[in-house]
Amino acid sequence: MELKPTLSLYTVSPPIWLLAGILLFFAWRWSIRHHKVSSNGEPPLVPYLIPWLGHGFSLINDINGFVEWVRSSFPSSGAVTVQVAGRHLYLIFDAKLASQIYRRSDNFLFDPFNLMVFRTTGGTKNDLEIAQNGARLVKTDPNVVVDGTHFMHGFHIMTKNHLSGEFLEELTRRFIETLCKEIDRNFPISKNGKPEWRTMDLCHLIKSLWTHASIEALMGTNIYTFWPEIDDWIWEFDSTFPMIIAQYPSLLFPKPYKVREEGIRKLIDWERMAREAEEEGKIKSDDPNRLWDPYWGHAYSREASKFYAKFGVSERGRAGNKMGIIWGIAANAIPVAMQVINQTVLNPTTLEELHSEISRCQTGPLSLDMGKVTTQPKLKSMFLEALRWATASPSPRVVREDCEIGGYRFKSNSMVMIPARILQLEPATWEIPGNEQSKPDLFWPERFLDGDQEHEAHRVDENIEAEANHIAGAPSSPEELKPRRVQVEPISGPKSKDIQRRILSLRPFGGGTTICSGRHFATNEILGGLATLLLRLEIEVIDEELIKHGVPQPDLRKQGGLFPDRPLMVRVRRRMS
Ligand code: HEM
Ligand SMILES: *[C@@H]1O[C@H](CO)[C@@H](O)[C@H](O)[C@H]1NC(C)=O
Repeated sequence: MELKPTLSLYTVSPPIWLLAGILLFFAWRWSIRHHKVSSNGEPPLVPYLIPWLGHGFSLINDINGFVEWVRSSFPSSGAVTVQVAGRHLYLIFDAKLASQIYRRSDNFLFDPFNLMVFRTTGGTKNDLEIAQNGARLVKTDPNVVVDGTHFMHGFHIMTKNHLSGEFLEELTRRFIETLCKEIDRNFPISKNGKPEWRTMDLCHLIKSLWTHASIEALMGTNIYTFWPEIDDWIWEFDSTFPMIIAQYPSLLFPKPYKVREEGIRKLIDWERMAREAEEEGKIKSDDPNRLWDPYWGHAYSREASKFYAKFGVSERGRAGNKMGIIWGIAANAIPVAMQVINQTVLNPTTLEELHSEISRCQTGPLSLDMGKVTTQPKLKSMFLEALRWATASPSPRVVREDCEIGGYRFKSNSMVMIPARILQLEPATWEIPGNEQSKPDLFWPERFLDGDQEHEAHRVDENIEAEANHIAGAPSSPEELKPRRVQVEPISGPKSKDIQRRILSLRPFGGGTTICSGRHFATNEILGGLATLLLRLEIEVIDEELIKHGVPQPDLRKQGGLFPDRPLMVRVRRRMS
């Protein structure tokens, strides 16, 4: 008799059970998402069903989709906590909080990811120990002798120095020169009569031109004598390397590892040949400021190899590092270049306006003043808008010690991710009331017409503070690693809250000590490249093909720069000057 109530529960038909379960789940979710913080002070937890693993699978499977889903479930939280494979991952949705995290680079660490890249690009056990020396980690391997040589930070300073000033100018010059050469080779100036129209996929054309020009600018010309396939190899690596990062077993998935090993082998050869050329006196070795030669390519390639070798990193580890750099350059900047070109050829008014800006920068029939190109208001605004609209940079960090920022507790050894694309598409930040075009899911070429002085000044300011914090807490701080005080233009005048939020919310290049050192080259490569292309070629979209394939959209399966997801068929011919 007493059992009756229980029994009656069991006799209820299954659909009602299911309904009750679903209701309970939503009630639970509702109660959680309306808590501003979890009971222990961490950002509110995203409910999950699978113990331990939590949302790990969704995150690996479709990072952009997952993050968007979380944001839509927690539209007013500045941060949330996600359970991923036994650890907490904090997703940061508030631009100010993101900036605070970037500034605290002593406690929100990037080095664990540097080490991961070091390992996955082929570094040996010994290389990893070298890299741990002076690295900022939650826990350093007790077997590693920390002697204050600051390998990782030193490399980062070296990188920064070799991608600015005269080094940057040389890299840009080589890039543009090669791009011109490649365009002229593919579309020769016809001596008799009109140049012919040719039909092709613009995405494919841009990819191959830009890949070749950036690899030659960085790695020199000799590499093509024994590895002409490198331009295709890099995109094969791009599509398979994420599987190595996700630790797919090589026995079941041999291809990514095969592609990687090919790259390492060829890049070891590349370095050997450059060293030989130096020994044989084919190139002068005594001038550390030598900017470019056919064997080492750009000074940055050479000095990076020498820096690694000086610290005892193996040939294999050095080749792996080169592979990472070539990949970073190709996989991020080329999709953004394609974005800008896509918008230009699909919008006749934009094309016309850009042409008039470009003609203002011309120094001859086919030559340009690069400094002028990258400061033209329309071109610059297009570039920033492309970064906003079609990059998805994750900015991962690991929390070193428990701390409290912006009203949240962040626990030691948890991970942080600042999903930049969410900040870049937030209506509250970007939409201007009464202006339809300003809706953040639309590409609006004029969005940044007031320039980016403030963006850059803020980045530099953030970087200085991050460097100071980073070094202040290090075991010992050698003099050459003390951050150089950069003269920052003060952000002029008071800024409205809206503008401030916009400044903080454009995050394609990350921030803090590890802010992308290649961002100035990327600007030149993308805008200089666009201007070069438009001066030399006429490009017309084929409407029937556009209807057939549909307008290409940014491919959201990727991180970093998002390449179009389908071909864009065009007619191309040499411009008659
Ligand atoms: C539009 C194109 C590019 C995008 C969107 C991009 C994005 C990024 C991001 C998100 C980071 C990590 C920042 C962080 O989480 O703090 C980064 C780092 C880096 N990027 Fe880029 N990047 C681009 C182009 C380039 C180019 C062309 C180069 C080389 C010439 C380059 C070289 C680097 C280097 C060396 C780092 C590591 C920074 C350091 O630790 O010193 N990037 N980039
Ligand atoms: C290309 O431009 C069109 C027109 O502005 C836009 O609708 C489309 O989303 C763009 N595609 C990419 C990949 O940027």
